[in-house]
Amino acid sequence: MLLKKKLKSWLKPLKVLINIISLLKGSFFYKKTGITSEKAYLSLIRLYCLTNGCSNAFLSWLLKLQRHPYILPHANGVLGDLDSAKILRVVQEIRKNGYYVFDRLLSVDICDKLISLALIKECNLKGSLDSNLNISVYDRTNPIAVTYWLREEDLISNTDIQKLMADLSIFAIAQSYLETQPILDIVAMWWSTALTKTACTDSAQFYHFDMDRIKWLKFFIYLTDVSSDNGPHCYIASSHQIGGKPKELLELGYTRIPDKDIAKFYPTENFFEVTAPKGTIIVGDTLCFHKGKPLRQGDRLVLELEFTNSLFGGSYQKAKLGNSNNSNLSESIKNYSRVFQKFILD
Ligand SMILES: [Fe+2]
Repeated sequence: MLLKKKLKSWLKPLKVLINIISLLKGSFFYKKTGITSEKAYLSLIRLYCLTNGCSNAFLSWLLKLQRHPYILPHANGVLGDLDSAKILRVVQEIRKNGYYVFDRLLSVDICDKLISLALIKECNLKGSLDSNLNISVYDRTNPIAVTYWLREEDLISNTDIQKLMADLSIFAIAQSYLETQPILDIVAMWWSTALTKTACTDSAQFYHFDMDRIKWLKFFIYLTDVSSDNGPHCYIASSHQIGGKPKELLELGYTRIPDKDIAKFYPTENFFEVTAPKGTIIVGDTLCFHKGKPLRQGDRLVLELEFTNSLFGGSYQKAKLGNSNNSNLSESIKNYSRVFQKFILD
């Protein structure tokens, strides 16, 4: 018994050491090739779980030292005309709770235009009724999958989305939270439907934390009204902080967790459901435990922009940024090239 206890006490530091070595090797390889090996990525995740967040915080600190933030001419955009005090308030709120919901809405006109776009473009299906059918245009009267994911290239060629990609108010919040020059690594938009009315693992409808990168910040924009019945974004406040996750849950690894299991560890006042009208912009660090609540009726369309401090981590697809005749975007690409390094420019 004593020997078992002694062995256990040695096992964790040994695991930490093995994963640090693997991560170091992986980071040299990444520096040379721009590719993260599967082994190094798994070590990033394991170290997060073993250190309850300290490893990612340390890596972010190193990245912060390497590259100072851009100096922006202003932070005026879709989130309002933000001064440094307002930016600080938002960032402090995200650091404390993990999330912040902006008062300012995206205009109904733009929401409607994006809904129209999302009803004519082909989507990749998740949780499809027919396992042989993976691509389809979404029919609101006849859903055949739990979620419908628009293709990134169809999104980034849209002028309204390009304006958001170049929006300096969004950029200022991302940069201030990440404390270094951000990289825009995801532009996504998807429909969630009430097809099954039960949680779908593929569609992120169980609580989980994201871990594709070292640090990131997501902007979610509701493009349809979201009530408790049609898939509000749910999160557990402060669970993104160092030490914010109980070891019993971290020992499960990088996985999806049923509501009843997660409810044992957090008080009910930490559980938030973001119900809000169309146009609402939510910013979140999805290191927090979070999920999309399964829909009971209707549907929900969300647009997401993610900024990160490094592309080290999970694999990602480069995307061709065509039709970049949007002057704001062209200007941003010229001035802030690191932000758009994931994209192949025309
Ligand atoms: Fe997620």
